[in-house]
Amino acid sequence: MKHKFKEGFYWGTAISALQTEGTHSDDGKADSTFDVWFKDEPERFFGGEGNGIAVDFYHMYKDDIKLMKELNHNSFRFSIAWSRLIPNGDGVLNEKAVEFYNGVIDELLANGIEPFICLFHFDMPWIMQEKGGWESLEVVNYFAEYAGIAFKLFGDRVKKWFTHNEPIVPIEGCYLYGFHYPKINDFRRGIKATYYTILSNAKAVKKFRELRERGVLSKDSTIGAILSMSPVYPRDENDVEDVKAAKICELFFTNSFLDPMVKGAFNKELLKLLKTHNLLLDFYTEEELTIIKENTIDFLGFNYYFPRRVKSKDIRSEGEVNNPEYFFDHYELPERLFNKDRGWEIYPKGVYDLLMLLKDEYSNIPVYISENGIGRHNGDQEDTDENGYINDDARIEFVKGHLNWLWEAQESGSNICGYHMWSLMDNWSMSNAFKNKYGFLYVDRENGLKRSIKKSGHWIAKVSENNGF
Ligand code: BG6
Repeated sequence: MKHKFKEGFYWGTAISALQTEGTHSDDGKADSTFDVWFKDEPERFFGGEGNGIAVDFYHMYKDDIKLMKELNHNSFRFSIAWSRLIPNGDGVLNEKAVEFYNGVIDELLANGIEPFICLFHFDMPWIMQEKGGWESLEVVNYFAEYAGIAFKLFGDRVKKWFTHNEPIVPIEGCYLYGFHYPKINDFRRGIKATYYTILSNAKAVKKFRELRERGVLSKDSTIGAILSMSPVYPRDENDVEDVKAAKICELFFTNSFLDPMVKGAFNKELLKLLKTHNLLLDFYTEEELTIIKENTIDFLGFNYYFPRRVKSKDIRSEGEVNNPEYFFDHYELPERLFNKDRGWEIYPKGVYDLLMLLKDEYSNIPVYISENGIGRHNGDQEDTDENGYINDDARIEFVKGHLNWLWEAQESGSNICGYHMWSLMDNWSMSNAFKNKYGFLYVDRENGLKRSIKKSGHWIAKVSENNGF
């Protein structure tokens, strides 16, 4: 076998609460921004479908865990819905939520699957949004309190924790490009929310460490964050302006979160750029900067879907900077391989380039791929045979290509320790609803949400069993 992964390599998949659990508000869950947004503007969601019962992981998790076992998972990432666990936001627990998450954790462990828990995957409780969401220091403190509660409730059994999933996405969606509620287009507010999200990470990490030191959490528990990462490539690496454009893009989309979370300090070049454009806000305190400095993450998860290709501006920007694209244009590689259903370029080597960046510039922090995957719409339909079996060879090729580069990175000294695919099963997503299907499991929404394993699921089961391919 050529591609053998190191012992203890984590194999599995990821899901999030909002996208799979279903709301089930009769069990005490309060609204998140997505619940409220859907009530206001259902037309913003593909097919006019809200998350509703999603794929009802809330009731079907035991059977889903049986299927994970069939896929030979040794680990699994899911998220807690803050608005389910603490509906009023004030520390009073929803016992049904505690029961549900305990059930999931215990069932995973009973099946030899290690739970990885993420605290925030896009689903801001409405009550927190009303206090200002990530623009509010009060919400930052509530988040740290929620984190502490979750650590105490579940940390006796869960050893792998994450504060945020792709924290840049709510910034892009809520404050820059308007694809998540409250759909604001205001760079300065986005920068403020970025800073407070970073502070919320550090405060949760601080709480985690205190509890670990006091022996409330086991000594080998670790905490990380999950970033959405794309390598940035200039159109022409011999063109100074293109290279400069790519560098700026990287400052905004990579260094913005990675540097403070891993190195404990904001990137100096990014700060300089913001200052030059009068975007550097001055509401932070020295005490907060110290918290950020002293509470960096133990390990990193990153989600990789596509690379970013960038060129210098065709038309020079003028006036106020209102988003990062003030500084660069996106560029499509004419000969690129891409997923027609989603429009995203497929570039497996990107994963290697990112892992080498982490090795060389971020002290080779322990890292694992926390999402990677291919969202198919017509593709999965076209690959379905007369018995309803999905022969998704394209997904297998996609995963194989990325695993190949992951293995190359391992051989080149990367501290890579696992691979979670997005996703266990087809699920609902923020505004794309049920359009893009990412699962190893197909979910038959016409037939009681019945799950069945796709060809790619059978394939990955073998890879996981053999710890390579
Ligand atoms: C990832 C998110 O970035 O993209 C997931 O972490 C999401 O939550 C996935 O489902 C796919 O998104 P989409 O829009 O293609 O369904």
